Amino acid sequence: MKVLGIDTSCDDTAVAIYDSDEGKVLSNVVSSQYEAHRVYGGVVPEIAAREHLKNIDVIFREALEKANVDVSDIDLVAVTYTPGLLPALLVGLTFGKGVAFARYIPFKGVHHIEAHMFSPFIEREPEFPFISLVVSGGHTMISVVRSLGNYKLLGKTLDDAIGEAFDKVAKMLGLGYPGGPVIDKIFRNYREGYLVLPKPQARGVNMSFSGLKTAVRRLIEDGYSKEMIAASFQKTAIDYVVGKLRKAVRETGIRRISVSGGVSANSYLRERLHELENTERVKVFLPEMEFTSDNGAMVAYVGYLRFEKEERIGDPFTLNAYPSLPITGV
Ligand code: KG4
Ligand code: ZN
Repeated sequence: MKVLGIDTSCDDTAVAIYDSDEGKVLSNVVSSQYEAHRVYGGVVPEIAAREHLKNIDVIFREALEKANVDVSDIDLVAVTYTPGLLPALLVGLTFGKGVAFARYIPFKGVHHIEAHMFSPFIEREPEFPFISLVVSGGHTMISVVRSLGNYKLLGKTLDDAIGEAFDKVAKMLGLGYPGGPVIDKIFRNYREGYLVLPKPQARGVNMSFSGLKTAVRRLIEDGYSKEMIAASFQKTAIDYVVGKLRKAVRETGIRRISVSGGVSANSYLRERLHELENTERVKVFLPEMEFTSDNGAMVAYVGYLRFEKEERIGDPFTLNAYPSLPITGV
Protein backbone atom coordinates (compact mmCIF):
# COMPACT_ATOMS: atom_id res chain seq x y z
CA MET A 1 0.00 0.00 0.00
CA LYS A 2 0.99 3.60 -0.54
CA VAL A 3 0.10 5.54 2.58
CA LEU A 4 -0.32 9.30 2.74
CA GLY A 5 0.67 10.65 6.21
CA ILE A 6 -0.27 14.16 7.39
CA ASP A 7 0.59 16.02 10.60
CA THR A 8 -0.47 19.61 11.35
CA SER A 9 -0.64 19.27 15.14
CA CYS A 10 1.63 22.23 15.95
CA ASP A 11 3.70 24.60 13.83
CA ASP A 12 4.99 22.22 11.13
CA THR A 13 3.00 21.35 8.01
CA ALA A 14 4.15 17.78 7.40
CA VAL A 15 3.20 15.39 4.58
CA ALA A 16 4.82 12.06 3.65
CA ILE A 17 4.28 9.01 1.46
CA TYR A 18 5.11 5.59 2.94
CA ASP A 19 5.26 2.38 0.90
CA SER A 20 4.29 -0.58 3.10
CA ASP A 21 5.39 -3.24 0.56
CA GLU A 22 8.92 -1.85 0.50
CA GLY A 23 8.85 -0.73 4.14
CA LYS A 24 10.26 2.58 2.93
CA VAL A 25 9.42 6.26 3.15
CA LEU A 26 9.18 7.59 -0.42
CA SER A 27 8.99 11.25 0.55
CA ASN A 28 8.88 13.30 3.74
CA VAL A 29 8.23 17.02 3.37
CA VAL A 30 8.06 19.42 6.32
CA SER A 31 7.43 23.15 6.15
CA SER A 32 8.23 25.02 9.37
CA GLN A 33 6.48 28.18 10.45
CA TYR A 34 9.18 29.53 12.78
CA GLU A 35 9.18 32.91 11.05
CA ALA A 36 5.43 33.43 11.43
CA HIS A 37 5.56 32.83 15.20
CA ARG A 38 8.98 34.24 16.08
CA VAL A 39 7.76 37.80 16.82
CA TYR A 40 5.30 36.37 19.38
CA GLY A 41 7.97 34.28 21.15
CA GLY A 42 5.80 31.13 20.92
CA VAL A 43 3.30 29.32 18.73
CA VAL A 44 -0.06 31.13 18.19
CA PRO A 45 -2.74 28.46 17.37
CA GLU A 46 -4.81 30.60 14.97
CA ILE A 47 -1.73 31.72 13.06
CA ALA A 48 -0.54 28.08 12.89
CA ALA A 49 -3.90 27.08 11.38
CA ARG A 50 -3.80 29.85 8.78
CA GLU A 51 -0.23 28.95 7.79
CA HIS A 52 -1.19 25.25 7.45
CA LEU A 53 -4.10 26.23 5.25
CA LYS A 54 -1.79 28.30 3.04
CA ASN A 55 0.84 25.55 2.80
CA ILE A 56 -0.83 22.16 2.89
CA ASP A 57 -1.81 21.94 -0.77
CA VAL A 58 1.72 22.89 -1.89
CA ILE A 59 3.39 20.50 0.58
CA PHE A 60 1.01 17.69 -0.46
CA ARG A 61 1.89 18.17 -4.14
CA GLU A 62 5.61 18.32 -3.31
CA ALA A 63 5.36 15.05 -1.33
CA LEU A 64 3.63 13.32 -4.28
CA GLU A 65 6.20 14.65 -6.74
CA LYS A 66 9.21 13.62 -4.63
CA ALA A 67 7.73 10.14 -4.15
CA ASN A 68 6.93 9.95 -7.85
CA VAL A 69 3.40 8.95 -6.91
CA ASP A 70 0.11 10.08 -8.41
CA VAL A 71 -2.83 10.92 -6.17
CA SER A 72 -4.65 7.92 -7.69
CA ASP A 73 -1.88 5.59 -6.39
CA ILE A 74 -2.65 6.35 -2.72
CA ASP A 75 -4.39 3.47 -0.90
CA LEU A 76 -4.73 4.85 2.64
CA VAL A 77 -4.74 8.27 4.30
CA ALA A 78 -3.39 8.65 7.87
CA VAL A 79 -3.76 11.93 9.76
CA THR A 80 -2.92 13.11 13.28
CA TYR A 81 -6.22 13.89 15.07
CA THR A 82 -4.86 14.33 18.62
CA PRO A 83 -3.11 15.75 20.68
CA GLY A 84 -2.22 19.22 19.45
CA LEU A 85 -3.54 22.71 18.80
CA LEU A 86 -7.20 22.30 17.82
CA PRO A 87 -7.37 24.79 14.90
CA ALA A 88 -4.08 23.45 13.55
CA LEU A 89 -5.14 19.78 13.80
CA LEU A 90 -8.41 20.55 11.98
CA VAL A 91 -6.61 21.71 8.84
CA GLY A 92 -4.69 18.45 8.33
CA LEU A 93 -7.60 16.27 9.41
CA THR A 94 -10.04 17.95 7.03
CA PHE A 95 -7.56 17.90 4.16
CA GLY A 96 -6.87 14.17 4.75
CA LYS A 97 -10.57 13.33 4.90
CA GLY A 98 -11.03 15.28 1.66
CA VAL A 99 -8.39 13.20 -0.15
CA ALA A 100 -9.83 9.94 1.21
CA PHE A 101 -13.41 10.94 0.31
CA ALA A 102 -12.50 12.10 -3.19
CA ARG A 103 -10.48 8.94 -3.94
CA TYR A 104 -12.91 6.60 -2.13
CA ILE A 105 -10.10 5.13 0.02
CA PRO A 106 -9.95 4.45 3.79
CA PHE A 107 -8.67 6.98 6.27
CA LYS A 108 -7.18 6.51 9.78
CA GLY A 109 -6.86 9.03 12.60
CA VAL A 110 -3.48 8.72 14.33
CA HIS A 111 -2.42 9.65 17.85
CA HIS A 112 0.62 11.93 17.61
CA ILE A 113 2.44 10.42 20.61
CA GLU A 114 1.91 6.88 19.35
CA ALA A 115 3.41 8.03 16.04
CA HIS A 116 6.51 9.35 17.87
CA MET A 117 6.78 6.08 19.88
CA PHE A 118 7.10 4.02 16.71
CA SER A 119 9.23 6.52 14.74
CA PRO A 120 12.50 4.60 15.40
CA PHE A 121 10.96 1.59 13.60
CA ILE A 122 9.61 3.27 10.44
CA GLU A 123 11.98 1.44 8.11
CA ARG A 124 12.50 -1.73 10.18
CA GLU A 125 10.26 -4.08 12.16
CA PRO A 126 9.54 -3.10 15.79
CA GLU A 127 10.93 -5.58 18.33
CA PHE A 128 8.60 -6.04 21.32
CA PRO A 129 8.57 -5.45 24.22
CA PHE A 130 10.43 -2.18 24.52
CA ILE A 131 10.66 0.77 26.86
CA SER A 132 9.61 3.98 25.11
CA LEU A 133 10.93 7.39 26.08
CA VAL A 134 9.16 10.24 24.27
CA VAL A 135 10.93 13.58 24.66
CA SER A 136 9.25 16.38 22.71
CA GLY A 137 8.08 19.96 23.03
CA GLY A 138 4.75 18.85 24.46
CA HIS A 139 5.42 15.47 26.10
CA THR A 140 7.94 13.67 28.28
CA MET A 141 6.99 10.13 29.20
CA ILE A 142 8.40 6.67 29.78
CA SER A 143 6.23 3.63 29.10
CA VAL A 144 6.42 -0.08 28.36
CA VAL A 145 5.24 -1.10 24.89
CA ARG A 146 4.26 -4.80 24.64
CA SER A 147 2.63 -4.50 21.22
CA LEU A 148 0.85 -1.88 19.10
CA GLY A 149 -1.88 -0.56 21.43
CA ASN A 150 -0.59 -2.29 24.59
CA TYR A 151 1.11 0.39 26.69
CA LYS A 152 1.85 0.82 30.37
CA LEU A 153 2.84 4.27 31.58
CA LEU A 154 5.81 4.14 33.97
CA GLY A 155 6.33 7.86 34.48
CA LYS A 156 5.91 11.30 32.97
CA THR A 157 6.73 14.91 33.63
CA LEU A 158 4.72 16.46 36.42
CA ASP A 159 5.08 19.97 34.97
CA ASP A 160 6.90 21.18 31.81
CA ALA A 161 7.92 18.91 28.92
CA ILE A 162 11.69 18.70 28.42
CA GLY A 163 11.57 20.38 24.98
CA GLU A 164 9.45 23.14 26.48
CA ALA A 165 12.16 23.64 29.14
CA PHE A 166 14.80 23.93 26.37
CA ASP A 167 12.60 26.50 24.60
CA LYS A 168 11.91 28.54 27.76
CA VAL A 169 15.56 28.56 28.84
CA ALA A 170 16.61 29.67 25.35
CA LYS A 171 14.02 32.45 25.47
CA MET A 172 15.32 33.64 28.86
CA LEU A 173 18.86 33.68 27.44
CA GLY A 174 17.69 35.56 24.32
CA LEU A 175 18.66 32.69 22.02
CA GLY A 176 15.44 32.56 19.97
CA TYR A 177 12.95 29.78 19.14
CA PRO A 178 13.08 26.77 19.00
CA GLY A 179 15.60 26.56 21.80
CA GLY A 180 16.72 22.92 21.62
CA PRO A 181 18.96 23.09 18.54
CA VAL A 182 20.58 26.40 19.63
CA ILE A 183 21.38 25.18 23.15
CA ASP A 184 22.69 21.89 21.73
CA LYS A 185 25.01 23.79 19.39
CA ILE A 186 26.37 25.91 22.25
CA PHE A 187 26.89 22.72 24.30
CA ARG A 188 28.93 21.09 21.52
CA ASN A 189 31.31 24.05 21.27
CA TYR A 190 31.56 24.57 25.02
CA ARG A 191 34.85 23.61 26.70
CA GLU A 192 34.66 25.14 30.22
CA GLY A 193 33.35 23.66 33.47
CA TYR A 194 29.67 23.13 34.28
CA LEU A 195 27.60 24.92 36.89
CA VAL A 196 25.78 22.67 39.34
CA LEU A 197 22.01 23.07 38.98
CA PRO A 198 19.72 21.62 41.64
CA LYS A 199 18.50 18.19 40.56
CA PRO A 200 14.69 18.20 40.09
CA GLN A 201 12.71 16.15 42.59
CA ALA A 202 10.05 13.71 41.31
CA ARG A 203 9.30 10.23 42.58
CA GLY A 204 10.22 7.03 40.77
CA VAL A 205 10.30 7.37 37.01
CA ASN A 206 8.27 10.61 37.05
CA MET A 207 10.10 13.78 36.04
CA SER A 208 10.02 17.52 36.63
CA PHE A 209 11.63 20.37 34.67
CA SER A 210 10.09 23.60 35.95
CA GLY A 211 12.66 23.90 38.79
CA LEU A 212 15.49 24.03 36.24
CA LYS A 213 13.89 27.11 34.71
CA THR A 214 13.93 28.88 38.08
CA ALA A 215 17.54 27.83 38.62
CA VAL A 216 18.48 29.26 35.21
CA ARG A 217 16.76 32.56 36.03
CA ARG A 218 18.87 32.83 39.17
CA LEU A 219 22.10 32.06 37.28
CA ILE A 220 21.26 34.81 34.76
CA GLU A 221 20.78 37.27 37.65
CA ASP A 222 24.11 36.13 39.11
CA GLY A 223 25.79 37.17 35.83
CA TYR A 224 27.11 33.86 34.47
CA SER A 225 27.72 33.69 30.71
CA LYS A 226 24.99 32.52 28.33
CA GLU A 227 27.21 29.70 27.12
CA MET A 228 27.94 28.44 30.63
CA ILE A 229 24.27 28.51 31.64
CA ALA A 230 23.00 26.90 28.42
CA ALA A 231 25.59 24.09 28.50
CA SER A 232 25.04 23.42 32.21
CA PHE A 233 21.27 23.30 31.69
CA GLN A 234 21.59 20.79 28.84
CA LYS A 235 23.93 18.57 30.87
CA THR A 236 21.64 18.58 33.92
CA ALA A 237 18.39 17.99 31.98
CA ILE A 238 19.79 15.17 29.83
CA ASP A 239 21.66 13.42 32.68
CA TYR A 240 18.41 13.56 34.64
CA VAL A 241 16.32 11.92 31.87
CA VAL A 242 18.96 9.25 31.25
CA GLY A 243 18.97 8.48 35.00
CA LYS A 244 15.20 7.94 34.87
CA LEU A 245 15.55 5.69 31.83
CA ARG A 246 18.18 3.59 33.66
CA LYS A 247 15.74 3.27 36.54
CA ALA A 248 13.01 2.07 34.15
CA VAL A 249 15.37 -0.55 32.70
CA ARG A 250 16.30 -1.83 36.16
CA GLU A 251 12.65 -1.91 37.30
CA THR A 252 11.29 -3.75 34.27
CA GLY A 253 14.29 -5.81 33.12
CA ILE A 254 13.39 -4.83 29.53
CA ARG A 255 16.55 -4.25 27.53
CA ARG A 256 15.21 -2.63 24.37
CA ILE A 257 14.64 1.12 24.42
CA SER A 258 13.01 3.42 21.87
CA VAL A 259 13.78 7.13 22.26
CA SER A 260 11.82 9.59 20.11
CA GLY A 261 10.47 13.13 19.74
CA GLY A 262 12.18 16.42 18.91
CA VAL A 263 14.66 16.21 21.81
CA SER A 264 15.88 12.77 20.61
CA ALA A 265 17.93 14.80 18.08
CA ASN A 266 20.04 16.10 20.99
CA SER A 267 23.70 15.19 20.54
CA TYR A 268 24.50 14.79 24.23
CA LEU A 269 21.41 12.61 24.77
CA ARG A 270 22.54 10.36 21.89
CA GLU A 271 26.03 10.17 23.40
CA ARG A 272 24.65 9.23 26.85
CA LEU A 273 22.33 6.60 25.31
CA HIS A 274 25.30 5.06 23.57
CA GLU A 275 27.05 4.78 26.95
CA LEU A 276 23.90 3.23 28.44
CA GLU A 277 24.06 0.51 25.78
CA ASN A 278 27.44 -0.54 27.19
CA THR A 279 26.84 -0.08 30.92
CA GLU A 280 23.33 -1.59 31.07
CA ARG A 281 23.66 -3.98 28.11
CA VAL A 282 20.57 -2.50 26.42
CA LYS A 283 19.81 -1.83 22.78
CA VAL A 284 18.67 1.69 21.95
CA PHE A 285 16.52 2.43 18.89
CA LEU A 286 16.60 6.04 17.69
CA PRO A 287 14.72 7.62 14.76
CA GLU A 288 16.62 8.91 11.75
CA MET A 289 17.25 12.65 12.25
CA GLU A 290 14.51 13.63 9.78
CA PHE A 291 11.99 11.62 11.83
CA THR A 292 12.88 13.12 15.26
CA SER A 293 10.75 16.25 15.03
CA ASP A 294 7.17 16.27 13.77
CA ASN A 295 6.77 14.57 10.40
CA GLY A 296 4.19 12.82 8.25
CA ALA A 297 6.20 9.61 7.83
CA MET A 298 5.66 8.46 11.42
CA VAL A 299 1.94 9.18 11.03
CA ALA A 300 1.73 7.20 7.77
CA TYR A 301 3.61 4.29 9.39
CA VAL A 302 1.42 4.06 12.50
CA GLY A 303 -1.73 4.63 10.42
CA TYR A 304 -0.69 1.64 8.32
CA LEU A 305 0.09 -0.54 11.43
CA ARG A 306 -3.30 0.34 12.95
CA PHE A 307 -5.15 -0.31 9.68
CA GLU A 308 -3.59 -3.80 9.44
CA LYS A 309 -4.24 -4.58 13.10
CA GLU A 310 -7.86 -3.35 13.03
CA GLU A 311 -9.04 -5.68 10.25
CA ARG A 312 -8.34 -3.14 7.52
CA ILE A 313 -11.24 -0.98 8.58
CA GLY A 314 -10.87 2.78 8.27
CA ASP A 315 -12.14 5.36 10.75
CA PRO A 316 -15.48 7.14 10.14
CA PHE A 317 -15.35 10.56 8.50
CA THR A 318 -17.08 11.88 11.63
CA LEU A 319 -13.81 11.46 13.60
CA ASN A 320 -13.07 14.80 15.24
CA ALA A 321 -9.85 16.52 16.31
CA TYR A 322 -9.07 16.78 20.04
CA PRO A 323 -6.51 18.94 21.89
CA SER A 324 -5.75 15.97 24.16
CA LEU A 325 -6.84 12.32 24.36
CA PRO A 326 -5.25 9.16 25.77
CA ILE A 327 -3.93 6.62 23.25
CA THR A 328 -6.60 4.01 22.52
CA GLY A 329 -6.01 0.46 23.73
CA VAL A 330 -3.85 1.49 26.72
O1 KG4 B 1 8.53 16.41 18.56
P1 KG4 B 1 8.61 17.85 18.29
O2 KG4 B 1 9.04 18.31 16.91
O3 KG4 B 1 7.23 18.56 18.53
C1 KG4 B 1 6.35 18.18 19.54
O4 KG4 B 1 5.57 17.22 19.34
O5 KG4 B 1 6.41 18.83 20.61
O6 KG4 B 1 9.58 18.49 19.38
C2 KG4 B 1 9.96 19.84 19.36
C3 KG4 B 1 10.92 20.11 20.51
C4 KG4 B 1 11.21 21.60 20.71
O7 KG4 B 1 10.98 21.91 22.08
C5 KG4 B 1 12.68 21.73 20.35
O8 KG4 B 1 13.35 22.75 21.08
C6 KG4 B 1 13.21 20.35 20.70
O9 KG4 B 1 12.19 19.47 20.29
N1 KG4 B 1 14.48 20.03 20.03
C7 KG4 B 1 15.64 19.79 20.69
C8 KG4 B 1 16.64 19.56 19.71
N2 KG4 B 1 16.05 19.65 18.47
C9 KG4 B 1 14.73 19.94 18.70
N3 KG4 B 1 15.91 19.76 22.01
C10 KG4 B 1 17.17 19.51 22.38
N4 KG4 B 1 18.18 19.29 21.51
C11 KG4 B 1 17.97 19.30 20.17
N5 KG4 B 1 18.99 19.07 19.31
ZN1 ZN C 1 5.69 15.83 18.16
